[in-house]
Amino acid sequence: MPESPATPARRPLISGNWKMHLNHFEAIQTVQKLSYLLGPDDGEGVEVSVHPPFTDIRSVQTLIDADDIPIALGAQHCHWEEKGAFTGEVAPAFLAKLNVRYVIVGHSERRELFGETDEMVNKKTAAVQAQGMTPIVCVGETLEEREAGGTEAKVLGQVAAALAGRTPAQVGALVIAYEPIWAIGTGRTATAADAQAVIGAIRAKVAELSGPDAAASVRIQYGGSVKASNIAELMAQPDIDGALVGGASLDPEELARIAQYRSHEGS
Ligand code: PGA
Repeated sequence: MPESPATPARRPLISGNWKMHLNHFEAIQTVQKLSYLLGPDDGEGVEVSVHPPFTDIRSVQTLIDADDIPIALGAQHCHWEEKGAFTGEVAPAFLAKLNVRYVIVGHSERRELFGETDEMVNKKTAAVQAQGMTPIVCVGETLEEREAGGTEAKVLGQVAAALAGRTPAQVGALVIAYEPIWAIGTGRTATAADAQAVIGAIRAKVAELSGPDAAASVRIQYGGSVKASNIAELMAQPDIDGALVGGASLDPEELARIAQYRSHEGS
């Protein structure tokens, strides 16, 4: 399938995944700083989301709503059931009630450290969409898999598993994040060309499974050691529609510079 240029229909999404960092006081300060740093134009072309820990979400929601801050609220995880005896878990409906718009699903840390399987990722993707929120479905290969030439098999297999049972319209509304595991938190970013190659293959897989309209509208982020210094080159690739940012998103100045990549494109 031909590479599809980023169209206005695919609004870039820069997402800050705070992981287990920042308590609710720190989260408020960070979002306040971020809102000062993001100019009124920044929210036009590029969407920014923050994904604080669960205990911060209500505080951040109150701030975003009270000050009408153009930052989307996100979560890092949820369960797929509506309710029940699942100690420690959070239902998608609880997040929707807090105006959460994006939920990260199947981050590699959840898959590796907490045993999340492709089947769980599939159920969560459906549960998040059933509540009117947008899943950010994470996929990615280990270094061993890459070195053995197994990147596409792994990543496209994860994509197919996550998408199973979704209608083309539901697939088109998703966000997929390609995060090579060897690039997460390591300072080692995939080259823009490597990231484009895998993300282009993901879009082709979506076209095969769900049709050309879904492939043209699904947003695909890159994640793994994204910083202000490498975002412009990544965003210049035709199939890369944004970034899922971990470490660098904890610093509001750095996250704002990442979101403002259009002002330093080519730099
Ligand atoms: P990183 O994390 O930017 O710190 O590499 C990315 C992620 O895990 O989403």
